[in-house]
Amino acid sequence: MNKEAGSKNLMDKIVSLAKRRGFIYPGSEIYGGLAGTWDYGPLGVELKNNIKKEWWKRFVQGRDDVFGVDTAILMNAKVWEASGHLKNFVDPMVDCRKCKARFRADKIDVSKGCPECGIKDFTPPRSFNMMFKTFVGPVEDTASETYLRPETAQGMFINFKNVIDSMHPKLPFGIAQIGKAFRNEITPGNFIFRTREFEQMEIEYFVKASDWKKYFEEWLKEMHNWAESIGISKIYDREVPDEERAHYSERTVDLDFDFPFGKEELYGIAYRTDFDLKSHAEKSGVDILYYDEETKERFIPRVIEPTFGVDRTFLAALVNSYAEEDGGKRVVLKLPPKISPIKAAVFPLLANKENLVTKARRVYDSLKDSMVHDSGFIVAWDDRGNIGKRYYAQDEIGTPWCVTIDFQTLEDDTVTVRDRDTAKQERISVQELIQYFSERLK
Ligand code: GAP
Repeated sequence: MNKEAGSKNLMDKIVSLAKRRGFIYPGSEIYGGLAGTWDYGPLGVELKNNIKKEWWKRFVQGRDDVFGVDTAILMNAKVWEASGHLKNFVDPMVDCRKCKARFRADKIDVSKGCPECGIKDFTPPRSFNMMFKTFVGPVEDTASETYLRPETAQGMFINFKNVIDSMHPKLPFGIAQIGKAFRNEITPGNFIFRTREFEQMEIEYFVKASDWKKYFEEWLKEMHNWAESIGISKIYDREVPDEERAHYSERTVDLDFDFPFGKEELYGIAYRTDFDLKSHAEKSGVDILYYDEETKERFIPRVIEPTFGVDRTFLAALVNSYAEEDGGKRVVLKLPPKISPIKAAVFPLLANKENLVTKARRVYDSLKDSMVHDSGFIVAWDDRGNIGKRYYAQDEIGTPWCVTIDFQTLEDDTVTVRDRDTAKQERISVQELIQYFSERLK
């Protein structure tokens, strides 16, 4: 199989597994779908929440210099004027006059003709603002117009003064948030890679002007460390050239990942200078200055912005962890246990032996009670089919451990724990199970 066919194949397999096993469903499916939207199912929401939880622990709770916020998706429309999004958040769009397909002019080679029908007859490129417009209140007039946020960042800039007044941080410090963003993408596609509604995890890290280069490098390293910590490898830094950079950025490095459809942006880090705070200070008339107690100076700090897409992290984690063994018969998601949706599955060896089932239920309940509340340790129960099938079913969703209650359990209170990656089994006493998992999840 050539590489391109193999890659398409891998994406198809991932999309199909995601739907079949309850990770991700097409948005509004029963009505024929809604382009660029996807719904996360019972296992998907666990994996996604685990990614966000790990990020929050690492970049907010684990640091003294970053403050978390959760700001409104709807903001005063003046925010988008000040941020430059009303004017600059545009993509060039062309339409094929023959088949009516629509493309981003910068993503296709117009001299080669339409990628859909091959005809060379395009409309001239037009600018298209990607923000979704909406109205606040019952009257649909320009005074009530606003937009769904296309980035979470602005919620942090407009609360800069609130955070310094309430938390009194000293430079350098950051404000972080996780939340939804919306973009009316001209060509959404590649599953959850480019969608119209997605989630971002962003940090605005404020520094003195003289320090920006140092912190840019530090955060770039931090971003790589984060990716590695959740098992995502094959990331390539790409210095974004002047003509491709967003209007607010003086330097951007994209962290590209080797997706099956090519090397594409997973994350980005930008030096946004004092562009946003300065513009909000000017347009709002509010004094947004930082006061430096040591130098007695008041100034607008500069900002480094590490930005992470939640959905692209999810997709990269699936791509990175997907493996086939036994000639394709066994599919395994080798996710790091801390982000696996289900941590352990409990099986009675035989579903029709009452004493085995009763004992297995007890083990299941005790694991659930002791672990689930604090660490998101989700336990699954399965008594269908034979043990081999149950192992395979858990492998396919990335469950790191399977616990089987067999006849020996009834005699000596030990169970077998089977490891997803090595397929090896160990006998562990029921009493030691919680400690066994806790140690491995650290
Ligand atoms: N605040 C800066 C900012 O929004 P961006 O590069 O436009 O920068 C940040 O977006 C991240 O959001 C991207 O690196 C990507 O992970 C994610 N992202 C952007 N557009 C997306 C889309 N249409 N679908 C899914 N994720 C997207």
